[in-house]
Amino acid sequence: MVTSSVFPLRSFRWLTYGLLFGVAIAISILLSQALTPSIPKAGGITTLYDRSSHSFGLPAPGLTPDEMDIHREGDVAFDAVFVTAPSLVNPGLGPVFNNNSCGACHIKNGRGMPELGQSLVRVSLPGEPQSPEQEGIPVPNIGHQIRDRSVYGVPADAKVALTWQTQPGQYPDGTAYELRFPQINLSQRDPHKPMPDNVLTSLRMPPAVFGAGLLEEIPEQTLRKLSDPDDSNGDGISGRINQVWDPEANAIAVGRFGLKANSPHLRHQTAAAYVNDMGITNPVFPGSNGEQDIGEQILQENTFYVQSLGVPARTLLDHPDVQAGEKLFAAANCTACHVSTLKTGPSAIAALSNQTFHPYTELLLHDMGEGLADHRPDFAADGQEWRTSPLWGLGLVQTVLPYAGYLHDGRARSVEEAILWHGGEAKAAQQSFMVMDQQQRQQLLAFLNSL
Ligand code: HEC
Ligand code: HEC
Repeated sequence: MVTSSVFPLRSFRWLTYGLLFGVAIAISILLSQALTPSIPKAGGITTLYDRSSHSFGLPAPGLTPDEMDIHREGDVAFDAVFVTAPSLVNPGLGPVFNNNSCGACHIKNGRGMPELGQSLVRVSLPGEPQSPEQEGIPVPNIGHQIRDRSVYGVPADAKVALTWQTQPGQYPDGTAYELRFPQINLSQRDPHKPMPDNVLTSLRMPPAVFGAGLLEEIPEQTLRKLSDPDDSNGDGISGRINQVWDPEANAIAVGRFGLKANSPHLRHQTAAAYVNDMGITNPVFPGSNGEQDIGEQILQENTFYVQSLGVPARTLLDHPDVQAGEKLFAAANCTACHVSTLKTGPSAIAALSNQTFHPYTELLLHDMGEGLADHRPDFAADGQEWRTSPLWGLGLVQTVLPYAGYLHDGRARSVEEAILWHGGEAKAAQQSFMVMDQQQRQQLLAFLNSL
């Protein structure tokens, strides 16, 4: 009798000790989290700790061994140099093309230069396209892109030459600056491809490709919530979703990739790059007789490759200038478009599933004013709209490619020039930057360089 009354008491005592111990551990974990600032992981699990010139081209940490194998095959496809048929290795280039490999334009998986064959000119004619499948009205015998190179015996679409104009400016504190912008000059090469006088042109510099897998997995619902097409909150900023054509789904889809969010997903972007930039027909865009220069496997591996690159971690998080700059970035309302924190939904690639990450974009279109306008609509994007650029990796741009430019056409020679070009919906943010004193401007740039 006695033992039975003591026994439950004893186990109760152990239960109490156990509970107390558990609570103590929980408190100590919470305390340690409160005391050490949480490190923002740019790419969630896929964050890598390398800020060398190779940092845009490394596989995402967290891939399974099988995924690593596909990634490596994709790496080979990304850098494969295509040549004219007939050839045993990588035939099919052209007949007209812009360059001969993905890696030739996305240098070290980063951006390209405005010149040197990496940038390209998209074209169309003014007016509403006849079908939702078209980004604009195609130029007869050319289409939507000037292929300025060609295989032997075939004339290119046109010759492209850029001339740079400069324009001086001044901060309210008297500091002078100079901006530059390109003028596109097209000259006809082929009498069968006359260039109409009213052709609309858009010069596009290749953006970096790392982190694209995370951007692809942001749920559509999140993008819809972030968009504010009618500026219902009255802050002068109305992010819009581009509505583009998905040829495989045979339907209109949300645009995410490309400088006007003109492509719905990475499989489409990759297949379109093959056919438009290199003249390589493929399962999504076969030739007129159904021919395909590359098959399903190469397309899948290359798509997987751009989905599964790692995102470089931020640096100098404890530096007082970086911390002050981050506050100024928020105070100037840069964060209205360059959204710092987003979350992916579930993904077939485990490392991309439910990740909290920091791209500094919401993939939406914004009217950036007359200064940046190309006056060429692209699906639902108008001639003044551009997709908010992701800012992750911004501080590594010059490490990966010295003298690389900024903005859609590479006109800005520095991050500072890129900010000064902001107009339209971003005019108020640009003004906030202009009126900062020199030290504050340096702090804001220090923050951007830490990304
Ligand atoms: C001639 C240069 C060139 C070649 C070759 C090229 N690209 Fe691109 N790439 C670009 C340009 C320019 C853009 C922006 C396109 C736009 O805005 O319409 C781009 C955009 C992209 C994007 C979207 C990135 C983003 O942030 O939205 C991805 C991904 C991409 N390219 C992957 C590839 C792959 C894969 C290949 C090879 C199959 C390839 N590219 C070949 C120039 C090139
Ligand atoms: C209304 C939305 C909006 C606001 C506000 C905004 N930006 Fe942007 N930002 C964009 C868009 C859109 C682009 C791409 C423009 C282009 O390519 O022509 C861009 C491009 C950039 C780039 C160039 C990135 C690259 O990869 O070349 C930088 C740097 C930048 N923004 C910094 C800032 C800073 C700093 C602020 C605040 C002072 C700011 N932005 C405010 C929309 C915005």
